[in-house]
Amino acid sequence: AHVLILGPPGAGKGTQSSRIADRFDVEHVTTGDALRGNKDMDISDMDTEYDTPREYMEAGDLVPDAVVNAIVEEALSSADGFVLDGYPRNMEQADELEDMTDLDVILSLDVSRGELVDRLTGRRVCDDCGTNFHVEFDQPEEDGVCDECGGELIQRDDDNEESVNNRLDVFEDNTAPVIDHYRDHAGFVEIDGEQTPDEVWADIEAAIDERI
Ligand code: AP5
Ligand code: ZN
Repeated sequence: AHVLILGPPGAGKGTQSSRIADRFDVEHVTTGDALRGNKDMDISDMDTEYDTPREYMEAGDLVPDAVVNAIVEEALSSADGFVLDGYPRNMEQADELEDMTDLDVILSLDVSRGELVDRLTGRRVCDDCGTNFHVEFDQPEEDGVCDECGGELIQRDDDNEESVNNRLDVFEDNTAPVIDHYRDHAGFVEIDGEQTPDEVWADIEAAIDERI
Protein backbone atom coordinates (compact mmCIF):
# COMPACT_ATOMS: atom_id res chain seq x y z
CA ALA A 1 0.00 0.00 0.00
CA HIS A 2 1.02 3.60 -0.63
CA VAL A 3 -0.17 5.68 2.32
CA LEU A 4 0.32 9.40 2.93
CA ILE A 5 -0.34 10.86 6.37
CA LEU A 6 -0.88 14.62 6.66
CA GLY A 7 -1.56 16.92 9.58
CA PRO A 8 -0.09 19.71 11.68
CA PRO A 9 2.93 19.27 13.98
CA GLY A 10 1.82 17.21 16.98
CA ALA A 11 -1.24 15.72 15.29
CA GLY A 12 0.06 12.19 15.92
CA LYS A 13 1.55 11.42 12.50
CA GLY A 14 4.63 9.73 13.94
CA THR A 15 2.68 7.82 16.59
CA GLN A 16 0.14 6.47 14.09
CA SER A 17 2.66 5.87 11.28
CA SER A 18 4.56 3.39 13.43
CA ARG A 19 1.36 1.41 13.88
CA ILE A 20 0.55 1.59 10.16
CA ALA A 21 4.03 0.31 9.29
CA ASP A 22 3.63 -2.67 11.65
CA ARG A 23 0.07 -3.59 10.75
CA PHE A 24 0.28 -3.19 6.96
CA ASP A 25 3.93 -4.23 6.61
CA VAL A 26 5.03 -1.03 4.89
CA GLU A 27 8.08 1.15 5.37
CA HIS A 28 7.78 4.26 7.56
CA VAL A 29 9.32 7.05 5.47
CA THR A 30 9.67 10.17 7.60
CA THR A 31 11.52 13.31 6.56
CA GLY A 32 11.60 14.57 10.16
CA ASP A 33 13.49 11.51 11.44
CA ALA A 34 15.71 11.41 8.35
CA LEU A 35 16.67 15.05 8.88
CA ARG A 36 17.14 14.63 12.64
CA GLY A 37 19.63 11.85 11.87
CA ASN A 38 21.51 14.14 9.49
CA LYS A 39 21.21 17.53 11.18
CA ASP A 40 24.78 18.50 10.45
CA MET A 41 25.09 17.35 6.87
CA ASP A 42 26.68 19.93 4.61
CA ILE A 43 24.05 21.42 2.29
CA SER A 44 26.03 24.55 1.39
CA ASP A 45 26.42 23.43 -2.23
CA MET A 46 22.63 23.66 -2.63
CA ASP A 47 22.66 27.43 -2.49
CA THR A 48 20.84 27.56 0.86
CA GLU A 49 20.74 30.28 3.49
CA TYR A 50 22.31 28.01 6.16
CA ASP A 51 24.97 25.34 5.76
CA THR A 52 23.16 22.53 7.62
CA PRO A 53 19.53 21.46 8.31
CA ARG A 54 20.03 22.15 12.05
CA GLU A 55 19.41 25.92 11.89
CA TYR A 56 16.10 25.50 10.04
CA MET A 57 14.88 22.71 12.28
CA GLU A 58 15.65 24.32 15.62
CA ALA A 59 13.72 27.42 14.55
CA GLY A 60 10.87 25.33 13.16
CA ASP A 61 11.33 26.56 9.60
CA LEU A 62 11.20 24.31 6.54
CA VAL A 63 14.47 22.81 5.35
CA PRO A 64 15.00 23.77 1.66
CA ASP A 65 13.00 21.69 -0.84
CA ALA A 66 16.01 20.37 -2.77
CA VAL A 67 17.36 18.67 0.37
CA VAL A 68 14.05 17.10 1.35
CA ASN A 69 13.02 16.07 -2.17
CA ALA A 70 16.27 14.12 -2.54
CA ILE A 71 15.68 12.28 0.77
CA VAL A 72 12.16 11.23 -0.22
CA GLU A 73 13.08 10.26 -3.76
CA GLU A 74 15.80 7.94 -2.49
CA ALA A 75 13.62 6.41 0.27
CA LEU A 76 10.65 5.75 -2.02
CA SER A 77 12.77 4.23 -4.76
CA SER A 78 13.70 1.35 -2.43
CA ALA A 79 10.31 0.94 -0.70
CA ASP A 80 7.63 -1.40 -1.96
CA GLY A 81 4.84 -0.15 0.28
CA PHE A 82 5.21 2.92 2.46
CA VAL A 83 3.60 5.31 4.87
CA LEU A 84 4.96 8.75 4.09
CA ASP A 85 5.07 11.12 7.10
CA GLY A 86 6.22 14.76 7.10
CA TYR A 87 6.18 15.31 3.34
CA PRO A 88 4.92 17.13 1.28
CA ARG A 89 4.85 20.32 3.33
CA ASN A 90 4.31 22.85 0.54
CA MET A 91 2.86 22.81 -2.98
CA GLU A 92 6.30 22.57 -4.61
CA GLN A 93 6.96 19.35 -2.69
CA ALA A 94 3.48 18.05 -3.58
CA ASP A 95 4.28 18.56 -7.27
CA GLU A 96 7.56 16.67 -6.84
CA LEU A 97 5.78 13.79 -5.11
CA GLU A 98 3.32 13.52 -7.97
CA ASP A 99 6.25 12.76 -10.29
CA MET A 100 7.67 10.14 -7.91
CA THR A 101 4.71 7.84 -7.10
CA ASP A 102 0.96 7.35 -6.85
CA LEU A 103 -1.03 7.18 -3.60
CA ASP A 104 -3.77 4.77 -2.42
CA VAL A 105 -4.75 6.39 0.87
CA ILE A 106 -4.34 9.98 2.08
CA LEU A 107 -5.03 10.41 5.78
CA SER A 108 -5.52 13.92 7.15
CA LEU A 109 -5.34 14.18 10.96
CA ASP A 110 -7.38 17.05 12.37
CA VAL A 111 -6.43 18.57 15.76
CA SER A 112 -7.06 22.05 17.20
CA ARG A 113 -4.17 24.44 17.76
CA GLY A 114 -4.47 24.61 21.56
CA GLU A 115 -4.26 20.84 21.85
CA LEU A 116 -1.22 20.77 19.52
CA VAL A 117 0.72 23.20 21.71
CA ASP A 118 0.05 21.01 24.79
CA ARG A 119 1.07 17.82 22.99
CA LEU A 120 4.30 19.23 21.58
CA THR A 121 5.59 21.07 24.63
CA GLY A 122 4.88 17.94 26.75
CA ARG A 123 6.34 15.40 24.34
CA ARG A 124 9.36 13.31 25.34
CA VAL A 125 11.13 11.01 22.87
CA CYS A 126 13.44 8.07 23.37
CA ASP A 127 16.98 9.05 22.46
CA ASP A 128 17.69 5.49 21.33
CA CYS A 129 14.61 4.13 19.52
CA GLY A 130 12.55 7.28 18.89
CA THR A 131 9.36 6.13 20.63
CA ASN A 132 7.08 9.03 21.65
CA PHE A 133 5.83 9.68 25.16
CA HIS A 134 4.04 12.57 26.81
CA VAL A 135 4.44 13.94 30.33
CA GLU A 136 0.66 13.82 30.81
CA PHE A 137 -1.03 11.86 28.01
CA ASP A 138 1.38 8.95 27.57
CA GLN A 139 3.62 8.52 30.60
CA PRO A 140 6.36 5.86 30.66
CA GLU A 141 6.25 3.29 33.44
CA GLU A 142 9.46 4.68 34.91
CA ASP A 143 10.11 8.44 34.84
CA GLY A 144 12.47 9.47 32.02
CA VAL A 145 13.01 5.88 30.79
CA CYS A 146 11.72 4.34 27.55
CA ASP A 147 9.29 1.43 28.02
CA GLU A 148 10.41 -0.16 24.76
CA CYS A 149 14.18 -0.19 25.10
CA GLY A 150 15.23 1.39 28.42
CA GLY A 151 16.74 4.41 26.62
CA GLU A 152 16.74 7.94 27.99
CA LEU A 153 13.75 10.20 27.26
CA ILE A 154 14.67 13.66 26.01
CA GLN A 155 12.88 16.77 24.75
CA ARG A 156 13.31 17.63 21.07
CA ASP A 157 15.19 20.90 20.34
CA ASP A 158 12.15 22.26 18.48
CA ASP A 159 9.56 21.44 21.17
CA ASN A 160 10.03 24.71 23.06
CA GLU A 161 7.12 27.15 22.96
CA GLU A 162 8.67 29.60 20.50
CA SER A 163 9.61 26.97 17.90
CA VAL A 164 6.27 25.22 18.35
CA ASN A 165 4.35 28.40 17.58
CA ASN A 166 6.49 29.02 14.51
CA ARG A 167 5.97 25.43 13.32
CA LEU A 168 2.21 25.87 13.61
CA ASP A 169 2.38 29.15 11.64
CA VAL A 170 4.53 27.48 8.96
CA PHE A 171 1.95 24.69 8.78
CA GLU A 172 -0.95 27.10 8.29
CA ASP A 173 0.88 29.10 5.61
CA ASN A 174 2.52 26.28 3.64
CA THR A 175 1.00 22.89 4.44
CA ALA A 176 -2.71 23.61 4.91
CA PRO A 177 -2.96 24.39 1.15
CA VAL A 178 -1.41 20.98 0.42
CA ILE A 179 -4.16 19.26 2.41
CA ASP A 180 -6.81 21.22 0.50
CA HIS A 181 -5.15 20.17 -2.74
CA TYR A 182 -5.61 16.48 -1.85
CA ARG A 183 -9.27 16.76 -0.81
CA ASP A 184 -10.47 15.76 -4.28
CA HIS A 185 -8.28 12.64 -4.37
CA ALA A 186 -10.29 9.38 -4.29
CA GLY A 187 -8.19 8.07 -1.38
CA PHE A 188 -8.57 11.16 0.81
CA VAL A 189 -10.02 10.67 4.29
CA GLU A 190 -10.23 13.06 7.20
CA ILE A 191 -9.55 11.57 10.66
CA ASP A 192 -10.50 13.13 14.00
CA GLY A 193 -7.05 13.28 15.62
CA GLU A 194 -8.34 14.64 18.90
CA GLN A 195 -9.54 11.24 20.14
CA THR A 196 -7.36 8.87 22.19
CA PRO A 197 -4.48 7.23 20.27
CA ASP A 198 -6.39 3.91 20.19
CA GLU A 199 -9.53 5.55 18.83
CA VAL A 200 -7.54 7.38 16.17
CA TRP A 201 -5.87 4.10 15.27
CA ALA A 202 -9.21 2.29 14.91
CA ASP A 203 -10.38 4.93 12.41
CA ILE A 204 -7.11 4.78 10.48
CA GLU A 205 -7.01 0.99 10.30
CA ALA A 206 -10.58 0.89 8.97
CA ALA A 207 -9.90 3.67 6.44
CA ILE A 208 -6.85 1.90 5.03
CA ASP A 209 -8.56 -1.52 4.96
CA GLU A 210 -11.39 0.00 2.94
CA ARG A 211 -9.06 1.48 0.34
CA ILE A 212 -6.48 -1.22 -0.40
P1 AP5 B 1 8.77 16.56 11.84
O1 AP5 B 1 9.62 15.64 12.57
O2 AP5 B 1 7.99 16.06 10.67
O3 AP5 B 1 7.84 17.26 12.90
P2 AP5 B 1 6.31 17.73 12.85
O4 AP5 B 1 5.60 17.75 11.58
O5 AP5 B 1 6.41 19.02 13.57
O6 AP5 B 1 5.59 16.61 13.54
P3 AP5 B 1 5.85 16.05 14.93
O7 AP5 B 1 6.82 14.93 14.88
O8 AP5 B 1 6.17 17.16 15.88
O9 AP5 B 1 4.39 15.57 15.32
P4 AP5 B 1 3.57 14.28 14.92
O10 AP5 B 1 2.39 14.68 14.11
O11 AP5 B 1 4.45 13.21 14.37
O12 AP5 B 1 3.01 13.90 16.36
P5 AP5 B 1 3.51 12.77 17.36
O13 AP5 B 1 3.01 11.45 16.95
O14 AP5 B 1 4.97 12.91 17.63
O15 AP5 B 1 9.60 17.81 11.30
C1 AP5 B 1 10.54 18.48 12.11
C2 AP5 B 1 11.28 19.55 11.32
O16 AP5 B 1 12.00 18.95 10.24
C3 AP5 B 1 10.39 20.60 10.61
O17 AP5 B 1 10.04 21.65 11.49
C4 AP5 B 1 11.32 21.05 9.47
O18 AP5 B 1 12.31 21.92 9.95
C5 AP5 B 1 11.97 19.75 9.06
N1 AP5 B 1 11.21 19.04 8.01
C6 AP5 B 1 10.62 17.82 8.12
N2 AP5 B 1 10.00 17.49 6.96
C7 AP5 B 1 10.20 18.52 6.11
C8 AP5 B 1 9.80 18.79 4.77
N3 AP5 B 1 9.03 17.92 4.07
N4 AP5 B 1 10.18 19.96 4.20
C9 AP5 B 1 10.95 20.83 4.87
N5 AP5 B 1 11.37 20.65 6.14
C10 AP5 B 1 11.00 19.50 6.76
O19 AP5 B 1 2.70 13.22 18.68
C11 AP5 B 1 3.02 14.41 19.36
C12 AP5 B 1 2.84 14.22 20.89
O20 AP5 B 1 1.46 14.00 21.17
C13 AP5 B 1 3.57 13.00 21.47
O21 AP5 B 1 4.04 13.32 22.75
C14 AP5 B 1 2.50 11.91 21.55
O22 AP5 B 1 2.76 11.01 22.61
C15 AP5 B 1 1.23 12.73 21.80
N6 AP5 B 1 0.06 12.16 21.15
C16 AP5 B 1 -0.03 11.55 19.93
N7 AP5 B 1 -1.29 11.19 19.65
C17 AP5 B 1 -2.05 11.60 20.72
C18 AP5 B 1 -3.44 11.53 21.03
N8 AP5 B 1 -4.33 10.95 20.18
N9 AP5 B 1 -3.86 12.06 22.21
C19 AP5 B 1 -2.97 12.64 23.08
N10 AP5 B 1 -1.65 12.74 22.85
C20 AP5 B 1 -1.19 12.22 21.68
ZN1 ZN C 1 13.38 3.50 23.34
